[in-house]
Amino acid sequence: MERNKVISIVNQKGGVGKTTTALNMASWLSIYAKSKVLLIDTDGQANLTACVNIDKNKIKGSTYDLLTNDNIKAEDIIYKDNSILFDMIISDERLNNIDLILNGVLARERQLSRKLESVISKYDYIIIDCSPSLNLATINALVTSDYILIPVQADYLSIRGTAKLLESINKVKEQLNPKLDVLGVFVTMYDNRKINDKNIYETIQEQFKEKAFNTFIRENVRLKESPIEKKSIYEYDKNCNGFIDYYNLMIEIWKRLGGQVNDK
Ligand SMILES: Nc1ncnc2c1ncn2[C@@H]1O[C@H](COP(=O)(O)OP(=O)(O)OP(=O)(O)O)[C@@H](O)[C@H]1O
Ligand SMILES: [Mg+2]
Repeated sequence: MERNKVISIVNQKGGVGKTTTALNMASWLSIYAKSKVLLIDTDGQANLTACVNIDKNKIKGSTYDLLTNDNIKAEDIIYKDNSILFDMIISDERLNNIDLILNGVLARERQLSRKLESVISKYDYIIIDCSPSLNLATINALVTSDYILIPVQADYLSIRGTAKLLESINKVKEQLNPKLDVLGVFVTMYDNRKINDKNIYETIQEQFKEKAFNTFIRENVRLKESPIEKKSIYEYDKNCNGFIDYYNLMIEIWKRLGGQVNDK
């Protein structure tokens, strides 16, 4: 099984389920695979940070500090608390200006990868939630990653966007990070009642072939509610579609990472 791997959740389209996936993936790996996980929020919107039960008094720094301050090490700012399932590097709105701040800085695309070198061996998986833009925070995430995971919303415009996304990923791969690989693509916010959504699922299967996951994530209001309670879907409701879908998706992901599965 692969360990010490960095996986970024990426799509430049907004609101497609990246943050929801990051939270539930990190939680699944911790609960069901007993993995040690570091979850990193690289989005200036800091939605992921808001989904986690963080005690503001215990925050020592954020992704912004890591990317912009040479004197700050990852060890200094990783947020740890027994009440959460994983370690975390939180985000704040200063990250929205990262392109301006890092303008002209040497090796600005490699800040994150350099800073994580000293901690990577401590974690089975590092999961990075990216913003819906290809800014320097996202580029830093891609340069650091072994894999990217792409959620695609079940709508026509989302499918069109994936071609562009793959182009950008290939550029990063060629110029900055040859080891970068697509772990897979999956459909989110799927609505059974819409014929269109079935077509989109089939299109994704044809376009991405072995990279497409069979599991799709249905629209489920419980997935919207659980972050308000600062919980993953696994802790929030074990009987809803959101639980079933994210559980099944994680089994597929786990197999791709070379993990063993005891089939029921
Ligand atoms: N399968 C789902 N069913 C219903 N609601 C969902 C589902 N997945 C995500 N949501 C909700 O949709 C909204 C957008 O999801 P999320 O924040 O995960 O997307 P995102 O890709 O991270 O967005 P952004 O690009 O702004 O970072 C959130 O309110 C979330 O709770
Ligand atoms: Mg998000």
